[in-house]
Amino acid sequence: MRKMVIAGNWKMHGELNETVNLISGIKNLLEDYDLKCDVIVAPPFTSLETANTLVKDSQIKLSAQNMHFEDKGAFTGEISHSMLKSVGCEYVILGHSERRSIFGETDEIINKKIIKALSVGLNPIFCIGETLEEREANITEKVVETQIRKGLENVSESDLAKIIVAYEPVWAIGTGKVATPEQAQDVHYFIRNLISQMYSKETAENLTIQYGGSVKPDNAAGLLSKPDIDGALVGGACLKADSFVDIIKAC
Ligand code: PGA
Repeated sequence: MRKMVIAGNWKMHGELNETVNLISGIKNLLEDYDLKCDVIVAPPFTSLETANTLVKDSQIKLSAQNMHFEDKGAFTGEISHSMLKSVGCEYVILGHSERRSIFGETDEIINKKIIKALSVGLNPIFCIGETLEEREANITEKVVETQIRKGLENVSESDLAKIIVAYEPVWAIGTGKVATPEQAQDVHYFIRNLISQMYSKETAENLTIQYGGSVKPDNAAGLLSKPDIDGALVGGACLKADSFVDIIKAC
């Protein structure tokens, strides 16, 4: 049985005091709540150590938002896997559309990061998704297939089990324009079929595929009720404890 996973991608938000407030708020609201899904928070690098001390006695898991593929060296401004592990990260978001479009990350770079993360025991949250132009040109499936095939090159079947895929249509990210549950379900179904062809039916059935892009408390239940949508990667709505917890409770 695959897991439902709700993850909060804080992006470039959250000074230390905000980190303390937000995580304490989430913990308070989840106290005594019987979680039906895994919960992950991804604060910025500078907050990870503080976040780690705060989530230690809770069910919340910690993710970073990015990572370099080299182990160490002269890479000014970059962060390595061992640095992330030393502050308690179990997950790392890789291939987010903002990394692709603003910072020029290619499928090849993302693949190197995925391979490195897996080799050191960090679980990638691997993001894919089409732009508005690509959707309007009816090439969503082609785009998503290319991102998956290139991003997962040389990833073994046993390693795939450690990956969460996040389908995030770029046109829905931060825009308030959420994909309809049917639009999202269609692409999730396509992704699961593709994984089934590339690996096996069993691996595909066990893969957690999150939806991301303007997920809010009022649209979460509709999306999460679809058979191939196994959770959400939440941006804007994860920055307030009550809206993030409402999405968690929609599971
Ligand atoms: P959003 O961001 O929820 O603000 O659209 C989602 C994401 O980028 O992961």
